[in-house]
Amino acid sequence: MTATAAWTVFVLAAGWLWQGAVPWRKTQQFRQHSLAPFVPSPQAVVEKMLEAARVKRGETVFDLGCGDGRVIITAVRKFGARGVCIELSPDLVRQTREEVKRLGLDDRIVIIEGNLMDADLRAADVVTLYLLTSSNELLKPKLESSLKRGARVVSHDFIVPGWEAEQVEKVKAAGRVHTIYVYSMPPKRH
Ligand SMILES: C[S@@+](CC[C@H](N)C(=O)[O-])C[C@H]1O[C@@H](n2cnc3c(N)ncnc32)[C@H](O)[C@@H]1O
Repeated sequence: MTATAAWTVFVLAAGWLWQGAVPWRKTQQFRQHSLAPFVPSPQAVVEKMLEAARVKRGETVFDLGCGDGRVIITAVRKFGARGVCIELSPDLVRQTREEVKRLGLDDRIVIIEGNLMDADLRAADVVTLYLLTSSNELLKPKLESSLKRGARVVSHDFIVPGWEAEQVEKVKAAGRVHTIYVYSMPPKRH
């Protein structure tokens, strides 16, 4: 084998290994950083969350762990907001990007594939969550240090431990009662 042929084989093999490594790395990242499984909020709950958070036209709503993007899509279409959708799962990000494009909302929604713990939240007027109580506990210091005064945090079914909700709403949907907790920054504490 000539040196050129050997080099070509080496480059092709390296490329092949790299292609295989990308999905593997993404799966590892997902396992390592996942703060909740994908369980979409029913549409009635999504609308109640945004209503309870008093989302206004032109405000920026962040959904941390945005799943299929339904919260952000609703915030933009029904409330006239701008949206930032942060999601760890590449499949859900792809699905959300397709739907946002199909609806022609690309100019009002930013979709970020990544760990919500790394997100810059300073621009948020409203943050929506459907994670777990333990995940909210982990996220709490970041919310407290990054969110502006008057920003609202609305969480589906799980409290932010140590914060006192200013409003609690119940919504019956998909065969059970869902609870919505609304907090304003800076939060009152227990
Ligand atoms: C219960 S689902 C909620 C989906 C959506 N917010 C809703 O209410 O319909 C939680 C989502 O958070 C995502 N997630 C979990 N850990 C994450 C992390 N560290 N960074 C970004 N997304 C994460 C999951 O992949 C999942 O899509």
